[in-house]
Amino acid sequence: MAELTTELAGVKLENPTVLSAGILGNTGEILKRVGLSGAGAVTTKTIGLKPRKGNKNPTVVDMGDVFLNAMGLPNPGAENFVEEIRIAKEGGKPIISSIFGKDAGEFAEVAKILKKAEPDLFELNISCPNVGSGMSFGCDPVAAGKVVEKVKAVTDISLSVKMTPNTHLLVEVAKSVEKAGASVITAINGLGPGMVIDVETGIPVLANKVGGVSGKFVRPIATRCIYSIAQAVKIPIIGVGGIYSGEDAAQHIIAGASAVGIGTAVKDHYLDIFKKVCDELDVILERKKLKSIGELVGTVKEVLT
Ligand code: SIN
Repeated sequence: MAELTTELAGVKLENPTVLSAGILGNTGEILKRVGLSGAGAVTTKTIGLKPRKGNKNPTVVDMGDVFLNAMGLPNPGAENFVEEIRIAKEGGKPIISSIFGKDAGEFAEVAKILKKAEPDLFELNISCPNVGSGMSFGCDPVAAGKVVEKVKAVTDISLSVKMTPNTHLLVEVAKSVEKAGASVITAINGLGPGMVIDVETGIPVLANKVGGVSGKFVRPIATRCIYSIAQAVKIPIIGVGGIYSGEDAAQHIIAGASAVGIGTAVKDHYLDIFKKVCDELDVILERKKLKSIGELVGTVKEVLT
């Protein structure tokens, strides 16, 4: 068995699989169960300052390998989530606390409340495609850097920044958040937004009309984003997007990710997905005669001409 441990800003993971934000992360008990089922770390649902209902149903469209969601960041509010993080920690795995705010100051307010539960990392969701200003920070290097600075001023807990792929300024945003003090980058959030229309009625299926796109086919786009970011920054990356197998995970890792986020695949593989990806990664490492995940990170080669 190869060494699957990895590290994100001093936080040790026993394997590189991370439950992504928004998937099963609503309560401490569920997060605990995901941790116990074999994930290397778990990310909570994105939490804001006040309780928030989110968008009206339908909020998801499941097309098999393609998935649209427009949840609209429903959450119970930061004060009500402190205890959930404490419970999640009983699973024994690092907890990544995903947060959002309407401006940089509100991001900091949320962090100030949730730091009481001592998560291992904060993940700043500056990239939600489903709420009015959700992606605005993620498309603006200056605004993204400011969010990091404001949150850093209120906590010593290391920060990851979740990137949107929906910008031509991807690399500039990554460089800016690194300069502002982010310790990790999570790449990527949902693509799009996209739209699905019911042909009989002519009505968009999602009540929000549009939603973030995830699933199998997102993987090559995520790999490209991870590759571009890894060429530009030194901080570790959690590679997210379309991971259903060890082969998918290995592509993100070779592109530069130190850990991999798994989200939509939970729908098809339930909690077995974390062990499945780890087992398949182990086979790949053996095949390549590598002793550890670290030996695979960022090993992408130049194209032969
Ligand atoms: C949502 O709650 O709408 C999805 C969250 C996200 O993609 O950031």
